[in-house]
Amino acid sequence: MDVGIAESVAHAASIAADLIQRAGRAKPEVVLGLATGSSPVGIYDELGRRVSDGRISLAAASAFMLDEYVGLPREHPQAYRSVIDEIFTRKVDIDPTRVHGPDGTARDVGAACADYERSIRAAGGIDIQILGIGTDGHIAFNEPGSSLASRTRIKTLTRETRVDNSRFFDGDLDAVPSHCLTQGVGTILEAREIILIAAGNAKAEAIRQAVEGPVSARWPATALQLHPEVTVLLDPAAASRLDLADYYREVWASKPAWQRR
Ligand code: GLP
Repeated sequence: MDVGIAESVAHAASIAADLIQRAGRAKPEVVLGLATGSSPVGIYDELGRRVSDGRISLAAASAFMLDEYVGLPREHPQAYRSVIDEIFTRKVDIDPTRVHGPDGTARDVGAACADYERSIRAAGGIDIQILGIGTDGHIAFNEPGSSLASRTRIKTLTRETRVDNSRFFDGDLDAVPSHCLTQGVGTILEAREIILIAAGNAKAEAIRQAVEGPVSARWPATALQLHPEVTVLLDPAAASRLDLADYYREVWASKPAWQRR
């Protein structure tokens, strides 16, 4: 695991954009994994700027979202599909028909989840997965207790997550759906490369667990320790509880060019 403690969340987003730009140059048909939430917004903004000034093109890329609320119509402004259109798709030059998400309105949820897994496989798998992290240590919507081998499925959101996300629903907890479809931890671990971005004190404990805690379903993000190509990009507040922060800073600063991804 590479841990980069950036000066700010904007700096972390720019490092993430560098990694995505490199992946996109090596493979124009790069398959991106997209997280929703506020953490990755700076990455998408930076990619938008780089598309505008010609440094990168995502015209041949495709993308798969991590998760979706169950029961919100696609056009609902807080449906993750609408959010991704707003924060990512319309800012870059990707073909919108190649941006995929789990169908949270499907009648047959099991079939929709199995279809989603099949479509990721048919695209050749995810090359570079962008992740945020919940304050309870979830990745995508894999709440504490999720199997670390799980696949795309329906999950019940914790109260903590619903309270956290109520800010997107005018503070109305009752308006936050109780269920979601989410890629499983096992699905996420199949991505070839993973970038996790987190900022702020509220994420510090989840980050401490994810990076330095024992691997456990109690903190699903700890499963990332089992993946060989993970970069965790943090602002100083999110990194504030890491025991080995000084060591991570030293490693990052002295990384030889051949070791930089
Ligand atoms: C949601 C999403 C996650 C995201 C998390 C953190 O629950 N399902 O993918 O990582 O929120 O959100 P934020 O980045 O807004 O703190």
